[in-house]
Amino acid sequence: MNRVKTGISGFDKLIEGGFPEGRSFLISGGTGTGKTIFAMQFLLNGAELNEPGIYLTLDERPDLIREDMLRFGWNIRKLEDNNLVKIIDGTISKIGIPSDEEFSLPMTGFDLDKLLLELMKAIKKIKAKRVVIDSIPALGMNFEKQHDIRKAILKTVYLLSRAGVTTVLTTEIDPESKQLGKYGVEEFVADGVIVLHYMGMGTQSNRTLHIRKMRATKHSEDLHPMEISENGIKVHSIDEDYNI
Ligand SMILES: Nc1ncnc2c1ncn2[C@@H]1O[C@H](COP(=O)(O)OP(=O)(O)OP(=O)(O)O)[C@@H](O)[C@H]1O
Ligand SMILES: [Mg+2]
Repeated sequence: MNRVKTGISGFDKLIEGGFPEGRSFLISGGTGTGKTIFAMQFLLNGAELNEPGIYLTLDERPDLIREDMLRFGWNIRKLEDNNLVKIIDGTISKIGIPSDEEFSLPMTGFDLDKLLLELMKAIKKIKAKRVVIDSIPALGMNFEKQHDIRKAILKTVYLLSRAGVTTVLTTEIDPESKQLGKYGVEEFVADGVIVLHYMGMGTQSNRTLHIRKMRATKHSEDLHPMEISENGIKVHSIDEDYNI
């Protein structure tokens, strides 16, 4: 089985070298736990390995993401110009203002099929190997019935898997809740679930990462200290001897 390296410091060794290729993985956590940074690092490290990536943003405007990521020294614009990364603006159908992005959704309201078409178009254009969908709850907001949201998630994941790309989905969960996904389906369709926690107060050491499931992989079951610094996310082992 081919492994797709996330390149996130300290993480790949916890999952036998990387994500199983061509599957979907859920990054689950409360607000501000580092889901977007994790997802973006996955794409940037892919770009470095010549594995182009698509970032579908449904929460935050592309310009704000570019700006935020520049704080880490990551120049998304440059990668976009080199066809190594493309951002799809999925925020637009919500606010009803035309987008000046290369890839975006019609401002006439949300349409799942149009979104998936745009996604496939972008994948084809740069021969993407990696995809990020940030976030599932922002996708789900477009549906009224739980049943329709689930169907939308299933369809999206199915199409991405058929396209052969490795996908990271982000989802926000209530830190107190025992659920791993918001709609009770993402954790089952995903081949792996990574839970990020932030205890709220004090220093960086209050962040943790936990691999809740990773199909076809012998993975770490520990709660790993995680840090976000000016270089992005770093995952630590619980003790020096930790080795897989
Ligand atoms: N340069 C930095 N140094 C240290 N920590 C940082 C830095 N930049 C951002 N952070 C931390 O990362 C957090 C944001 O991470 P990120 O945007 O990935 O979270 P998220 O889980 O996607 O949140 P949301 O649910 O709001 O989308 C900030 O709240 C902050 O704590
Ligand atoms: Mg985010």
